[in-house]
Amino acid sequence: MKIGNKIHRFSSCPSTNNLARKYASQGEPEGTVVIADQQTKGKGTQGREWISPPGKGVYISFILYPPASGLSLLPLVGGLTVREAVFESVGVSVQLKWPNDIMWKRKKLGGILCESSFWGGKLLYVILGIGLNTGHQVQDFPEEVRSAASSLDLITSKEVQVERESIVENLFQSLECWYEVFLKGENSKIVDAFQHHSAIYPGKKVTVAAENEVVSGIYSGINPEGGIILDVGGKQKTFYSGQVHFLGK
Ligand code: BTN
Repeated sequence: MKIGNKIHRFSSCPSTNNLARKYASQGEPEGTVVIADQQTKGKGTQGREWISPPGKGVYISFILYPPASGLSLLPLVGGLTVREAVFESVGVSVQLKWPNDIMWKRKKLGGILCESSFWGGKLLYVILGIGLNTGHQVQDFPEEVRSAASSLDLITSKEVQVERESIVENLFQSLECWYEVFLKGENSKIVDAFQHHSAIYPGKKVTVAAENEVVSGIYSGINPEGGIILDVGGKQKTFYSGQVHFLGK
């Protein structure tokens, strides 16, 4: 399966994920890409907005028709794809924070938004959306996220020319490889690679803000289905969605 055989490019659009959903529902082939220079209603996880100023980031969505099993591994596949593409293009080794954050020294550089569509219990498609901050300067971020966000230009101090097109090309190649691993059901390869590049290490105290609860515990790892395992007072608790916050240093 080829990623990027068909590409829909926009100078501006509300959300590449929403456009990709539309194309998927019209039967566009797997691997079709929607990319924009700017999003006016970019979507983040948990209903948040993804600020997407013109020319400052990579805003891209991929149409996938995966089997329904192992869906919670797809955000991890997205993270590994971005990590590899950034390394190939810029030589910077970013870290991954479960389940969908691209990090540099505890600052967020990018994120993955996987949206699945079901009909009568059958999985129709998944849109894998990637947002990566490339050219943002500090003032490009809203004040409330400034201390927690970064961009490739900021972390490389312009020593390396960050070429969005090269990152996009590498995203196609990396996603093709990692999606193949996913399709072969090689879950442990995905989980091992993710853990290897994880911003959180076993033994670290963290909080997981899940849909209905906020739980603090000791990070113990990722299970073969892509869930995060916390040790909470000696008992193991697994989450398949949510947001991780670091506790302490
Ligand atoms: C996150 O909150 O960490 C996920 C952010 C995902 C943003 C990307 S940008 C391209 C695609 N289109 C969207 O509307 N959102 C995703």
